[in-house]
Amino acid sequence: MKGIILAGGRGTRLYPLTNIVSKQLLTVYEKPLIYYSLSTLMLGGVRDIALISTPEDIPRYKELLGNGRKWGLKLTYFVQDKPRGIAEAFIICKDFIGNSTVSMILGDNIFYGNMRLKEVYANFEEGALVFTYPVKNPERYGVVELEKNGKVIGIEEKPDNPKSKYAVTGLYIYDNKVVEYAKNLIPSDRGELEITDLNRYYLKRGELEVNLLGRGIAWIDAGTASSLHEAGSFVKSVEKRQFYKIGCPEEIALRMGFIDTNGFSKLLEEIPNCDYRDYLLEIYNEFNQEV
Ligand code: TTP
Repeated sequence: MKGIILAGGRGTRLYPLTNIVSKQLLTVYEKPLIYYSLSTLMLGGVRDIALISTPEDIPRYKELLGNGRKWGLKLTYFVQDKPRGIAEAFIICKDFIGNSTVSMILGDNIFYGNMRLKEVYANFEEGALVFTYPVKNPERYGVVELEKNGKVIGIEEKPDNPKSKYAVTGLYIYDNKVVEYAKNLIPSDRGELEITDLNRYYLKRGELEVNLLGRGIAWIDAGTASSLHEAGSFVKSVEKRQFYKIGCPEEIALRMGFIDTNGFSKLLEEIPNCDYRDYLLEIYNEFNQEV
């Protein structure tokens, strides 16, 4: 399966923070926001990943992440010259997707908890799978309407009277038809190719399934000053109490077998002395004891 991280957009709700910095490069406690979405795809076992951003910001992402080899990944960069909508990603990445299935994550989304992604990704065959999360304020999101057996019967964008508490998060898996379906979309009134329209397209054909994320999972969409702050506080609270870090790509690369201990020690050599390096060193020692 291929992966796409969507890291463009306007970031208007985070003005003035996003005046000169891309939203997904902003800080969530001790890491850039983009680390968290990248980590989620990695936990699904996805290694061939396209990153989409604005012409101005692509060089910054390249500087931060490079070609991904040090983490056992293959990263490719694509420009979205204008924010013409989330679903445009599949048109931009048409050749990159090729004949593969694809998982897209929005670069400002953070997931935490055991989502069994490796299993879910390995079992995915066709259609579309969206991850949904029970929220207090569904009217702010795309919301799914469900039958008792969990089957989706509708999706509405920012409904006044939501038919469930399940919001569609920024994590999706599609089969190869997604490129064709995306090409058939018509821009919405705000001039964007809408991901909700794409999901409805799948729904109409009976090809949309949902993964209902449960209580043990945290989902944060860090698109506002308040939620960005909450995300930082959340990560800090967990990491202060629990030994393990959230969204640490080096650790995930090692545990998923994308790199071996030699590759990991090379990484350590490049990292300056700091708490982050101390953590990786402990992971290295723990890992060596396990195997
Ligand atoms: P949004 O939060 O919907 O939009 P935005 O990032 O432009 O922010 P704002 O609403 O404050 O102006 O976008 C969700 C994610 O998708 C975010 O990570 C940016 C990305 N995105 C793109 O890369 N291209 C696009 O055309 C759009 C609409 C979003």
